[in-house]
Amino acid sequence: MYKRFNLKNKVAIITGACGLFGVEQTKALLESSCTVIGIDIDKNRIKSVKKKIPNVNLVILRCDVTNFSDVNKLSKVIIKKYKKIDILINNLSFDYKPNKKLNNKMNFNTLSLETWNKHLNLGLTSAFICSQIFGKFMELKKKGVILNIGSDLSVIAPDQRLYSHLNSIKPATYSVVKHGIVGLTKYLASYWSDKNIRVNCLSPGGIYNNQDKNFVKKLKNLIPLNRMANKNEYNEVIQFLCSDASSYMTGQNIVIDGGRTVI
Ligand SMILES: NC(=O)c1ccc[n+]([C@@H]2O[C@H](COP(=O)([O-])OP(=O)(O)OC[C@H]3O[C@@H](n4cnc5c(N)ncnc54)[C@H](O)[C@@H]3O)[C@@H](O)[C@H]2O)c1
Repeated sequence: MYKRFNLKNKVAIITGACGLFGVEQTKALLESSCTVIGIDIDKNRIKSVKKKIPNVNLVILRCDVTNFSDVNKLSKVIIKKYKKIDILINNLSFDYKPNKKLNNKMNFNTLSLETWNKHLNLGLTSAFICSQIFGKFMELKKKGVILNIGSDLSVIAPDQRLYSHLNSIKPATYSVVKHGIVGLTKYLASYWSDKNIRVNCLSPGGIYNNQDKNFVKKLKNLIPLNRMANKNEYNEVIQFLCSDASSYMTGQNIVIDGGRTVI
């Protein structure tokens, strides 16, 4: 029954693999017997994740995925060793945490062009770079799966009341990046339809990670299931979207958000 979920002999790349969600995606794919190549920029995080997940099918490489030539070089190293890339998860995005010093700078009226470019680079340009570079190898094999990571904020605007008591604001760049990644998903699904490369997007709601109590309370009130997600609650859908179990699905944005976007 679950044969089509099996990822044995598949090679997957995950960007931003050592963050909160990247680690869960890594675990999900390893559980399906996939070989996982995590990419992250942070040396210390790489060290700690390697320690936390000792698995012969996992390697984590250091690279800045916003840098085209670095990713290009890395892709050659990966191909030399693994010969193919079956799955790419474009997981990386910027994560803006409430920060009193920066708060004023995140207001739309004062958001600098530098910040705009930095956020779009991390959340969208990285997905463009990785899809173009790793997608070429999928084209050669005429098979591949790309999973982009969106957010509930891929389909709704942020409710700024969630952050007001922290004197904070969710910047416009997050909306642009998260709506943009859905656009890229649809574009690539159509563009690569004749190459048997399926491209979908997973849009998760907020993952509970000991956030500020008031923030959590306010957010729960906006979610019909009345709670944030546990960090492992997306694992099965990741296994589904990355495997042949979803073989007839492409160009879709799967929203899993405790119902937040339906009310
Ligand atoms: N955490 C949530 O509640 C949540 C909710 C909805 C959507 N998401 C989405 O999930 C994705 C992952 O979020 P997260 O919370 O795990 O983020 P995170 O901040 O915990 O992790 C990001 C990781 O990316 C790495 N990184 C940063 N810049 C990099 C670069 N230039 N090149 C390579 N690696 C780099 C960091 O070192 C870090 O390990 C994002 O797209 C985010 O929008 C997260």
